[in-house]
Amino acid sequence: MFGHSDTAAVSGLVHAARMLADATLRNQTLQRCRQVMGAKVAGAWNVHSAALIAEESLEYLVMFSSTAALLGSPGQANYAAANASLDATAHLRSGMGSAAASMQWGAWAGAGMATQHDTLTRTAAAGLGEVSVNVGMEALGGVCCGQALGSQIAVVPIRWPQLLLWVAPPFLAHFRLHGPFADAKVPKVVTEEAAGTCVQGVLAASVPEWTSNESDASPMIAEVAL
Ligand SMILES: NC(=O)c1ccc[n+]([C@@H]2O[C@H](COP(=O)([O-])OP(=O)(O)OC[C@H]3O[C@@H](n4cnc5c(N)ncnc54)[C@H](OP(=O)(O)O)[C@@H]3O)[C@@H](O)[C@H]2O)c1
Repeated sequence: MFGHSDTAAVSGLVHAARMLADATLRNQTLQRCRQVMGAKVAGAWNVHSAALIAEESLEYLVMFSSTAALLGSPGQANYAAANASLDATAHLRSGMGSAAASMQWGAWAGAGMATQHDTLTRTAAAGLGEVSVNVGMEALGGVCCGQALGSQIAVVPIRWPQLLLWVAPPFLAHFRLHGPFADAKVPKVVTEEAAGTCVQGVLAASVPEWTSNESDASPMIAEVAL
């Protein structure tokens, strides 16, 4: 399509495909990972490759990522990782000086996958609000018009005290200790060292081919309940 002079110039691309194959870490399989990665990792790379041909006319390239990549999501390790690859692709393209944005959406209200499986109830319990269609479209419009700063944009209403009760990734640790919610009772900060050990355990537990010299990290995996 891009190579034909009688076709209109492509000014924007949006990648919004997804596949879910949720499971707790112990039940994750390579097959489930491949299902989810196909739509996101391979799909986004195909879009990026196509965009290289249309780079001159391209004003925006938006990939629909998820807060699962930002904060994690129980039972969705493969989905979180797949979305993180969209974020990485956006950073890669941005570093090349090309149009790119990865939007890490919270759960949309009234449309799409979040309306199924009690997703909105579960995310609300975790302190994450719904993205209304109006707010989502406004954010998307802003990004397409080049109004966003940066190539990775999270769009989600957050009730911070509630969120910090259940998740405190390293990049929020400083905020938790010194920010306005420093007094919130947070059970645990997952340190980078602990997260690294955890990842070793995740691979050992979910990928049959994986071998590691690390000691058994299973208790850690269960503890953080990824
Ligand atoms: N809805 C939300 O609350 C929410 C929150 C965070 C992030 N997101 C992201 O926003 C995007 C849209 O979400 P949605 O709720 O609108 O999803 P959706 O209704 O399930 O639509 C997903 C689409 O992806 C297509 N697809 C799946 N695998 C594909 C593949 N391998 N190649 C090409 N297309 C494929 C599906 O096509 P078929 O119908 O033909 O299967 C479907 O049209 C997704 O990337 C999702 O991860 C959504």
